[in-house]
Amino acid sequence: MDMRLGILGTGMVGKTLAARLAGLENEVMVGTRDPAETLSRNEPDTYGNPPFSVWQEEHPEVRLGTLAEAAGHGEMVVNATAGAVSLGALELAGEENLSGKVLMDVSNPLDFSKGMPPTLSVSNTDSLGEQIQRRFPQARVVKTLHTMNAYLMVDPAQLASADHTVFVCSDDAEAKAIVTDLLRSFGWADIIDLGDITTARGTEMMLPVWLRLFGALQKPLFNFKIVR
Ligand SMILES: NC(=O)c1ccc[n+]([C@@H]2O[C@H](COP(=O)([O-])OP(=O)(O)OC[C@H]3O[C@@H](n4cnc5c(N)ncnc54)[C@H](OP(=O)(O)O)[C@@H]3O)[C@@H](O)[C@H]2O)c1
Repeated sequence: MDMRLGILGTGMVGKTLAARLAGLENEVMVGTRDPAETLSRNEPDTYGNPPFSVWQEEHPEVRLGTLAEAAGHGEMVVNATAGAVSLGALELAGEENLSGKVLMDVSNPLDFSKGMPPTLSVSNTDSLGEQIQRRFPQARVVKTLHTMNAYLMVDPAQLASADHTVFVCSDDAEAKAIVTDLLRSFGWADIIDLGDITTARGTEMMLPVWLRLFGALQKPLFNFKIVR
């Protein structure tokens, strides 16, 4: 690959995808609300990972910009912001910077306001993937990779049996093909095309199951495997 990517989000997912995509010879810019503020953080994040500046020093090839700069930079844009604020983050990224582009959405609509485990802020008859597609009709939204831990997203071979499953949901067949190529470059083999963006209702509703599995297994490196 040799693509310009804009990754919106400085959390574990944004950093993990950015490092992997840069390692595959792509030109990557990560987007954050306020780059100077993000670089000035010196406390570990909520998961105990080192602050962004430490990660940035280890990955000098990845540039940091505002959400709008990162979205403008990308030929493809990734939404890796907290699901509860994704629509707002994408507003800051700017509709003009998303129009006509593949927007890979890896967010989950998790509501942590009433404690753990979180609930879904949208479900059954709608999804965050659809909300994003409706609000940004010119973006080519592909929902994928959000049903597993960040480290597995970019390296499925970490599990002993690597033939576990990733889903793609989108109204745009060509965008799905582009994202499928990117998934293959990460090592994914079992990629199930579920259909249009409304199928993201199903994949987002896998999260309550994922969260209980995490509780039961006490480790994040596991995934769904669709045997047929
Ligand atoms: N962690 C995982 O393994 C995993 C797995 C699958 C899916 N996901 C999904 O992937 C997404 C990212 O997860 P994460 O764990 O990497 O990080 P996260 O803590 O869920 O999100 C961090 C990002 O959200 C942005 N943000 C927070 N509040 C905001 C606001 N009010 N307005 C705009 N942006 C705001 C932050 O911006 P700043 O950079 O400006 O601080 C930061 O870039 C989430 O939707 C999550 O559900 C996570």
